[in-house]
Amino acid sequence: MTDRYAVIGHPIAHSKSPLIHRLFAQATSQAMEYTAIEAPLDGFDNTVRRFMAEGGRGVNVTLPFKLQAFQIATDPMESAQLAGAANALRFEGDRIQAENFDGIGLVRDIQHNLGTALAGKRVLICGAGGATRGALLPLAKCQPAVLAVANRTADTAHQLRRDFAAHIDLQTGGYEGLSGETFDVVINATSTGLSQTPLPLPAGLFAPDALAYEMVYGKGLTPFLRQAQAAGVSRLADGVGMLVEQAAEAFAWWRGVRPSTVSVIRQLTVPLT
Ligand code: ATR
Repeated sequence: MTDRYAVIGHPIAHSKSPLIHRLFAQATSQAMEYTAIEAPLDGFDNTVRRFMAEGGRGVNVTLPFKLQAFQIATDPMESAQLAGAANALRFEGDRIQAENFDGIGLVRDIQHNLGTALAGKRVLICGAGGATRGALLPLAKCQPAVLAVANRTADTAHQLRRDFAAHIDLQTGGYEGLSGETFDVVINATSTGLSQTPLPLPAGLFAPDALAYEMVYGKGLTPFLRQAQAAGVSRLADGVGMLVEQAAEAFAWWRGVRPSTVSVIRQLTVPLT
């Protein structure tokens, strides 16, 4: 029987994961099936267990189930433990292993695809939700000079500093506290990429030649990217590379072969206009 995988979310119709994994499977000659499953909002556990019972080998998990994906795991890996969330599950008998590849995907996109080494850089993440939690450890492992988190609700950012204190020396606060500071890489991990709301970023935040990275993908110039552009930043990126790179990590974890990502990223890229 062909090995079966799926992405589970709600809603799921617009997920690019089936296309990405089918392209990976073709390119690496892996016999596998990959579908999209919409779980009821109160039915994530049942959906996963049914898929396992039907012979499923693993799933990607997207909004709003990443926390539940971590909770259902019998064997959460370090990345998932620290994020408190998982975006990939692998089934071994009745064991459920959980990983969080979002942060690794982000780092790989920034360093490998966008050619921006993070070591020694001043890096700022805007937002302190699940997307930021997933990104912090992989970013810290690159040894930036400063890793800062700014959030509308400053207390949530301070909570992150406490939660990650054993691993990372985070600088945390509200946006007003960023006045006078300059960063080489600024990442928007808030949900404002899906709305029309700009962030209250102070003037002078972006260093010359800074990279402005929007985690949301396929939306063209989001309010954050427009702000960066208006501040003179020419190196703008959205999260399409992060999406494809995290998918490649999951694929490699499941199948033991890492697919090339360049042509898949090119196919999915929406121009930033
Ligand atoms: P995710 O899992 O995608 O990170 P989340 O956990 O709901 O989603 O977090 C959303 C993030 O976007 C939070 O950091 C939130 O800030 P608050 O903690 O203050 O709520 C941030 N966010 C959402 N709307 C925002 C806005 N209009 N301005 C600034 N930050 C916003």
